[in-house]
Amino acid sequence: MPTTESVMQPYSPGLEGVPAGETTICQVDEERAGLRYRGYSIGDLAEKARFEEVAYLLLFSKLPTRKELDDFAAELAVRSVLPDRIVAFLATLPRDAHPMDVLRTAVSWLGLLDSDSGHRSREANLRMSIRLLAQIPLVIATAHRLATGTEMVQWQPALSFAENLLAYLTSWKVDENEKAKAMARVLDISLTLYAEHEFNASTFSARVTASTLTDLYSAVTAAIGTLKGPLHGGANEAVAEMFVAIGSPDRAEAWVREALAEKKRIMGFGHRVLKRGDVRSDLIQREAERLSDLCGDRRWYDIALVIDRVMRRERGLAPNLDFYTAVAYLLMGIPRALYTPVFVCSRIVGWCAHVIEQQEHNRLIRPRALYKGPAPEVYVALDDRR
Ligand SMILES: CC(C)(COP(=O)(O)OP(=O)(O)OC[C@H]1O[C@@H](n2cnc3c(N)ncnc32)[C@H](O)[C@@H]1OP(=O)(O)O)[C@@H](O)C(=O)NCCC(=O)NCCS
Repeated sequence: MPTTESVMQPYSPGLEGVPAGETTICQVDEERAGLRYRGYSIGDLAEKARFEEVAYLLLFSKLPTRKELDDFAAELAVRSVLPDRIVAFLATLPRDAHPMDVLRTAVSWLGLLDSDSGHRSREANLRMSIRLLAQIPLVIATAHRLATGTEMVQWQPALSFAENLLAYLTSWKVDENEKAKAMARVLDISLTLYAEHEFNASTFSARVTASTLTDLYSAVTAAIGTLKGPLHGGANEAVAEMFVAIGSPDRAEAWVREALAEKKRIMGFGHRVLKRGDVRSDLIQREAERLSDLCGDRRWYDIALVIDRVMRRERGLAPNLDFYTAVAYLLMGIPRALYTPVFVCSRIVGWCAHVIEQQEHNRLIRPRALYKGPAPEVYVALDDRR
C-alpha cells in the first residue's frame, strides 16, 4: 500500500555510510583504496592521460578522440578571457581577501553575465561548465597578480592546461625550462587526482543546490564555499603551513607528538570514506619525491615522511591526497593561499558533471532531522513574560 508519510531511516551522524543518491561518474573502492572515473582507474588516468582528457571524460562521459581533445583544448583557449567588468571588480577587492572568498564571489559575478545561466538544458550546462573551466584559472591568477602588483601572462594555446596554470600562478616560464615542464606534469597529475570524488562534501553541496532546479553558477558557488573549509579542500593549504611551521625534518616528530597530545588534528590525514588509505596519496607521493630530487630540495618531502611515519604508528591514520600534494606545490612555488583555488580549477569538472547528472534525474534532496529541542511550550504574551 503506498503511504503519504515518509519513513524515518536509522540516523548516521554526518551521513556516514549513507547512500544519498546514484551516480555514473565516480566509483570509490573502499577495500582497495582506489577510485575510477566513469570506469577508468585513477592510476591509469594519472599516468597516461592529460588533465584535459580527464575533464572531457567527466563532462562528456567518454574519453575524447584526438580531434575532440584538440577542439576541446582550443575552446578552452578561446574561452580564457574575462569580461572587463570582472577584472575591474577584482581590482576593487581587499588585497588581503582570501583567494577562495574572491573566487566564490567572482564565480557568482560571472553567473550574472552569462546568458546561459537561466537555462538548465544539458547543452547550456555544458557550455557554462566549459566557460568556468577556462575562466576559473584566469580569475585566480588575475586577482593574485592584481594583489601582488605583477603583470598577467597570456594563456598559450600551444601549452597544456597545467602548463598554463603553472605559468599563471608562478614565475616559471614553462616553454623554456625543462624543470618547469616536469613541474607542470606533476601539477597535471594532481589536477587529475583532484577532479572528482563521488559525494564528497562540496559535490554533495552542489547537488543539493542543483536539486532545487536552480542554476549551475549557484551550485558551483555553494560548492566553492564548502570546499574552502580545512576539513575538506582547505587542508592542502593547512598542510603546507604545517610543513613551514615545522621547518626541518629533525623537528617533525616532536611537533606532531605535541600536536596530538593537545588533541589537534594533523591536516592531510584521515578520510571519511577511505579508512584503509588512499591510492591517490600513493600516486602523488611518488611524484612529490621525484620532484624533490629533481629540484635538489628534499626538505619538505623529508618532513612529510616523518609525519607520515608518526601518524601511522601513533594513530593508524594514512595520508590523504592533500598531504604530499602540498610538498609538490611548495616545490613549484605556488603561493600557499592558492592551493585550494588550484583544487577548484580541477574539481570544477566533477561538480559540473554532478550538477548535470542531478538535474537530468532530479529529485529534490530534502532529508529529515531528529528533533532534540525543547518540549512543547505555551506561548506567553510579550507583556506577561518574566
Ligand atoms: C577528513 C576527516 C574530517 C574525516 O573525519 P571523520 O570521518 O569524521 O573521522 P573521525 O572524526 O570520526 O575520526 C576518527 C578518529 O580519528 C581521529 N582523527 C581523524 N583524522 C585525524 C587527523 N587528521 N589528525 C588526528 N586525528 C584524527 C579523530 O580524532 C577520531 O579519534 P577519536 O575516535 O579518538 O575521537 C578527518 O580525518 C580530518 O579532520 N582530517 C584532517 C583534515 C583533512 O586532511 N581533510 C582532507 C580530507 S580529504
